[in-house]
Amino acid sequence: MSDSYDIIDHQHDVIVVGAGGAGLRATRGLADAGLKTACITKVFPTRSHTVAAQGGIASALGNMGEDDWRYHAYDTIKGSDWLGDQDAIEHLTKEAVPAIIELEHDGVPFSRTEDGKIYQRPFGGMTTHYGKGQAERTCAAADRTGHALLHTLYQQSLKARAEFYVEYFAIDLLMTEDGACRGVLAWDLQGGQLHRFRAHQVILATGGYGRAYFSCTSAHTCTGDGMGMALRAGVPIQDPEFVQFHPTGIYGAGCLITEGARGEGGYLTNSEGERFMERYAPNAKDLASRDVVSRAMTIEINEGRGVGEKADHIMLHLEHLGPEVLHERLPGITETAKIFSGVDATKEPIPVLPTVHYCMGGIPTNPYGEVVTLKDGDPDSIVPGLMAVGETACVSVHGANRLGSNALLDLVVFGRAAAKRCTELVSPGQRLHADTTKSEEAALARFDKLRNASGNTSTADLRDSLQASMQKYAAVFRNTDSMKEGVKVIGEEVAKFADVKVSDRSMTWNSDLVETMELQNLLECAIVTMTAAANRTESRGAHAHEDYSDRDDENWIKHTLTWYRGDGRVDIDYRPVHLQPLTDEMEHIPPKERVY
Ligand code: FUM
Repeated sequence: MSDSYDIIDHQHDVIVVGAGGAGLRATRGLADAGLKTACITKVFPTRSHTVAAQGGIASALGNMGEDDWRYHAYDTIKGSDWLGDQDAIEHLTKEAVPAIIELEHDGVPFSRTEDGKIYQRPFGGMTTHYGKGQAERTCAAADRTGHALLHTLYQQSLKARAEFYVEYFAIDLLMTEDGACRGVLAWDLQGGQLHRFRAHQVILATGGYGRAYFSCTSAHTCTGDGMGMALRAGVPIQDPEFVQFHPTGIYGAGCLITEGARGEGGYLTNSEGERFMERYAPNAKDLASRDVVSRAMTIEINEGRGVGEKADHIMLHLEHLGPEVLHERLPGITETAKIFSGVDATKEPIPVLPTVHYCMGGIPTNPYGEVVTLKDGDPDSIVPGLMAVGETACVSVHGANRLGSNALLDLVVFGRAAAKRCTELVSPGQRLHADTTKSEEAALARFDKLRNASGNTSTADLRDSLQASMQKYAAVFRNTDSMKEGVKVIGEEVAKFADVKVSDRSMTWNSDLVETMELQNLLECAIVTMTAAANRTESRGAHAHEDYSDRDDENWIKHTLTWYRGDGRVDIDYRPVHLQPLTDEMEHIPPKERVY
């Protein structure tokens, strides 16, 4: 280490890293329960990526017609292509109903029906009567649901007197030598000091790693920071090969056009003006699940029926809905279409393309937010002191493909569950005895090495190269050769990071160093993603393998676990999918052919 650092100490009962929907729901629950809670966040809470969620949050309220949480559970299991854990899915869908009532009481300004109930719209893969009818299940605040939810949760957290550490970048987890997590080392980007946050429980809520790709709907801040920290602490990432492409990113810009647009009656056409989804999903059509629609769009383009000069995109039609519906239900995307593609959606179709949107994989947890790993033959062995919620986590309720509007739900249901579990594990003010010296020294050494990195490779160039590689090799369709090549190329990019150059040595507002640390997290997430994908010789959900085009239930109903061992090396093992529900209130849903 070339520099010495004064470190400021803090002790809390629980630390939450990240202030998106999951982090804030956990923070608020913890603070409400009287636990001394710190929420550390690299951006101001209401700038977290949850703010960008548009279409809504699923819950079988039945405001617009008959519904039942068991139908929602069935849809989620089918949507997951039978890789989701049925116990966790039961918890998610059953708790969805009280979760929405709670959000309403907290002040989320949901859109309303004529008679004053929460408005609910159709979304992809959401049905009633086990696939027979179309559900209207997605509760919406126009097309700005995430914005409404995030602001409400932040206000509630402030009211509960949680402590916020804003614009602090979490560097690494503080682990004891026997593998318990007892804190986080973080960097105050404005003040310029390092901070040692110690706690009985650390909850990671840092979102996904969409920015490993060239074209994504994710904010620039979605750099897999929590997953990178977990991997460096020896904790595996589960099912990273399943990365979701949202069918309707704006062509060229990647910005999200909500699935709610198709929920309100929008549809897709190819260069022949054909509503091609009728061929791929005769019942659900444009409201099939996202993996199905994204694959169909990609096939249309690959077979020469793409739109435009380069025949490389698809058209989304909303103009038939009329200005009134667009103004009332979809004002945000009407504006986005105007700004990012110059299109007046009331008059013309919007050019769209499948765009990376969500990481189904993440840090493995049980339904209470506790991180689990495979240890001594036990696939559900708990990592003491460490929890994960939201997109950072893999509970796994989304399995191989998430249904639209189940993400916001995941945030609030499991954010709440993690807070509740902490109240069972930690008493307010309980003394903490933990020696984390070794991991702290390693974290400091890494920070100092990067701050003084004087190689020849620019962070921006290496990030560009990684994003292009992920876009090419971990795409909607993959095959044996492309993934083998992807592992090799991304391995070389990981190796190149040793030659990175950081020009700014300052401790305050050093975006050069922040971006370099983010890049390391992205590289680690990317190499485990590519390796896990290359290992899975079947097609399931978002993993469409051209050489193994069928789902293989005999060999592959299992979760991938990946450990990053440094120097580009990844270890892989597997753990069983939980196929049985939590209680006898719902029946086990056996795997069957997945048609929409
Ligand atoms: O299309 C959307 O509004 C996105 C929703 C989601 O990913 O859940």
